[in-house]
Amino acid sequence: MTLILALETSCDDTCAAVVSADGELRSNVISSQGVHDAFGGVVPEIASRHHLELANAVVDDALRRADATLDDVGLVAVTQGPGLVGALLVGVATAKAIAAARGLPLAPVDHLQGHIAANFLRIGADSGAGGIMAPPFVCLLASGGHTLLARVEQYDGFSVLGRTLDDAAGEAFDKGARLLGLPFPGGPALERLARDGDPHAFAFPIARNLDGLDFSFAGVKTSLLYRVRDLGPQDAAAHAADLAASFQHAIVEALALRCEQALEQTGLRRLAIGGGVAANGPLRTRLEQLAVTVGIPPRELCTDNAAMIASAARFVDAQPFPAYLSLDAYASGERALA
Ligand code: KG4
Ligand code: ZN
Repeated sequence: MTLILALETSCDDTCAAVVSADGELRSNVISSQGVHDAFGGVVPEIASRHHLELANAVVDDALRRADATLDDVGLVAVTQGPGLVGALLVGVATAKAIAAARGLPLAPVDHLQGHIAANFLRIGADSGAGGIMAPPFVCLLASGGHTLLARVEQYDGFSVLGRTLDDAAGEAFDKGARLLGLPFPGGPALERLARDGDPHAFAFPIARNLDGLDFSFAGVKTSLLYRVRDLGPQDAAAHAADLAASFQHAIVEALALRCEQALEQTGLRRLAIGGGVAANGPLRTRLEQLAVTVGIPPRELCTDNAAMIASAARFVDAQPFPAYLSLDAYASGERALA
């Protein structure tokens, strides 16, 4: 049996996973550091140090849960970028060490390609040989660092149809949550608060007049800031659930409208989603209502995880030992096709 062992340490989650050579998910371990909340955001140096402490234990756990040992591993994969470079380097160094000790090849994986490849995973008996969704499809990637629409025609690459001109959707959720006094990361907390609110109580702007398929979330965030200020602390607290629901509604609509446009423009009738924001319940429901085939990975495969990195590694040219010993991480950019 040949397995792929993958590591993902691009931000504040220390992740390891085991996936079979044909894309079946065997284990997916995510250790959320939970130490950044006090700072209201991820502190890169603290993230790196925690990755260093957690990496070996997380790898051991992933192997144990897959009922495997390093003897069963034929390929090691790791997120090479984009992300926090110090955090990435811990994953890259750990992956190199494991692979080199065993003389195994190493597959460097782009984080965004990983989010797309979450859709190629086969999970249990329910998904067929193609995984959750096979190309061609349009993919909405919305996370804390990125928001883009990708055209996915093949397993090993994508082209960018549109991207955010300012904040990422997850960043907008995080900043909005902060304005409402919610803890970091803001997305899940804001979604919870919004459950008790009216999404039509306040009208927040949805940027529509942009060129092509780009997004903008700076306006909606500023609009929330002014609304909270105008209401004053007491009224803002009294209307917190309505503010959260209306703010979430504006972001979900902005994302859904662009997805609809992208499907129209490409003529594709299949939509997949990825990135942390894809865990958002109202977004998932809204997209499921589009009259197309929608592929939505389970929540734990939408937020950062190593299973998606292992999945992408199946379609990457792996480097043989010792070529990868000089492999470096990259902080920004994406390895898109166009
Ligand atoms: O993909 P991800 O785990 O990490 C990055 O690569 O950024 O995405 C994290 C982002 C955060 O901004 C977080 O607030 C957002 O995804 N997020 C959500 C939800 N869960 C996570 N946003 C809205 N609703 C959620 N349920
Ligand atoms: Zn991500």
